[in-house]
Amino acid sequence: MLGVAALLSLSACNCKQECQTNQSDNAAVVMENILNRKSVRSYTDQTIGDDTIQTLLRAAMSAPSGMDVRPWKFVVLKDKSNFDAIFQNNMNMEKFMQAGVVFVLCADTTMVKRGSTTGERVPDPIWRDDMGACTQNLLLAAEAYGLGAVWTACYPYADRMESVKRELGLPSEVVPYCVVPVGHHDGTTQPKDKWNASNVHYERW
Ligand SMILES: Cc1cc2nc3c(=O)[nH]c(=O)nc-3n(C[C@H](O)[C@H](O)[C@H](O)COP(=O)(O)O)c2cc1C
Repeated sequence: MLGVAALLSLSACNCKQECQTNQSDNAAVVMENILNRKSVRSYTDQTIGDDTIQTLLRAAMSAPSGMDVRPWKFVVLKDKSNFDAIFQNNMNMEKFMQAGVVFVLCADTTMVKRGSTTGERVPDPIWRDDMGACTQNLLLAAEAYGLGAVWTACYPYADRMESVKRELGLPSEVVPYCVVPVGHHDGTTQPKDKWNASNVHYERW
């Protein structure tokens, strides 16, 4: 754990004592989860149940979304024989074959549109931000259930997007945003402490 106790001692709450205790207990759990998340690429051969898959999808769909459009769509791969086609352009492909389940997070870009200067309705690039939030929710939920996961890019790499689109038969308007293998991690990967005070400016740069 990375300095969670120190972080929590800074938490402020104006409620009575009991409320303060509950809030800091909840905050401790959430902060521990955020600080412990790491990209896990080595998994054991333990399987992942459908209930867990459903829970991870629920977390992903709970992400914030511009204008609450929620452009996300998911392709869930449980059959390992389908994994290699999805990771064919990824250098960590061999490791991902061991995952228990693979989520392909896609965006229906036709759902998020705005007027262009010509009056034409064009996809609003904000779908990318929605998908980033969605992906992070999935990763944090995996961490919360003691699972290992890693965000692997599809968008914006043409080779990866094309191969995933082809292999999964995605409709033309659906963009494969990223691929997230999830498995029981083998315990070799540790979280990084990324705190860097020089990244922060107060009031003005
Ligand atoms: C947009 C994005 C794309 C990524 N693509 C890949 C990828 O294709 N393959 C991979 O193994 N890891 C990928 N990662 C994981 C990063 O390598 C990882 O987040 C980074 O090294 C920091 O490590 P951490 O997640 O353990 O904190 C990606 C992460 C992000 C946010």
